[in-house]
Amino acid sequence: MLSLPKDIAKCFPREDAAAFPSLELYHSVMKQLEDHRAGVEQRIREACRQSGRDREEVRLIAVSKTRSPDEIRALHALGQRCFAENYVQEFVAKHDALTDLDPAPEWHFIGTLQTNKARAVAERAAWVHGIDRLKIAERLSRQRPAGMPPLQVCLQVDLSGEPGKGGVPPQEAGPLAESVAGLPNLVLRGLMAIPAPAADPAAQRRPFARLRELRDTLNARGIALDTLSMGMSDDLEAAILEGATLVRIGTALFGPRGPHARQP
Ligand SMILES: Cc1ncc(COP(=O)(O)O)c(C=O)c1O
Repeated sequence: MLSLPKDIAKCFPREDAAAFPSLELYHSVMKQLEDHRAGVEQRIREACRQSGRDREEVRLIAVSKTRSPDEIRALHALGQRCFAENYVQEFVAKHDALTDLDPAPEWHFIGTLQTNKARAVAERAAWVHGIDRLKIAERLSRQRPAGMPPLQVCLQVDLSGEPGKGGVPPQEAGPLAESVAGLPNLVLRGLMAIPAPAADPAAQRRPFARLRELRDTLNARGIALDTLSMGMSDDLEAAILEGATLVRIGTALFGPRGPHARQP
């Protein structure tokens, strides 16, 4: 994980970094992040080219879980606007520490949610990707503050059948989608999945293809879904080749994650 001095925030977005304790460190940290971002951008462009898709069809979401607010500031200074978190307390702390960023980041919540923590997310996120129960969706809809735009949501689909991974089984996605689509303060945008890691590109593509097919089936049943949230650092090419519209990238942008104390 990049380690940034605590007061790096003071130097953003100032070009000269005058207040920064070591100009050299400032430049090397920024250079590293810039290189990582350019590398990810290049991979996305190449996968779009291979699949005959427009680069504009795929949004890059920076997964900032376990990263410091300063690291998020640094990436924001380089032009990144969408960030994703997956622990509620960590999300709240970072969201609230970064309200001065301009333009405001678009926050995505990508973890599974307990009903008693829904309010904090409903009050802060633009998107929630991990809806796997109607109860959570109802809570989010009820607790979305008046005056905020509707919360964009994706259903998380369990493609592996492994217990504990979260997500609705594919055969239950249709009824859940119909119910969620009827809730007043949410907009159902699409489907999200976190397949088991696979090294070989063909194996990586299979679960993404299943998610795309499920999206197509639901669209054919009249449930309008325009989003496939799929693809992480190791498999973003496979996801884009199968139609991903949002890729969620952590490690390839920020470097390897350090140990993280899981929040209750
Ligand atoms: C739901 C979800 N999506 C995406 C990511 C990013 O993964 P990676 O660091 O491999 O890019 C994570 C990381 O934990 C995650 O939990």
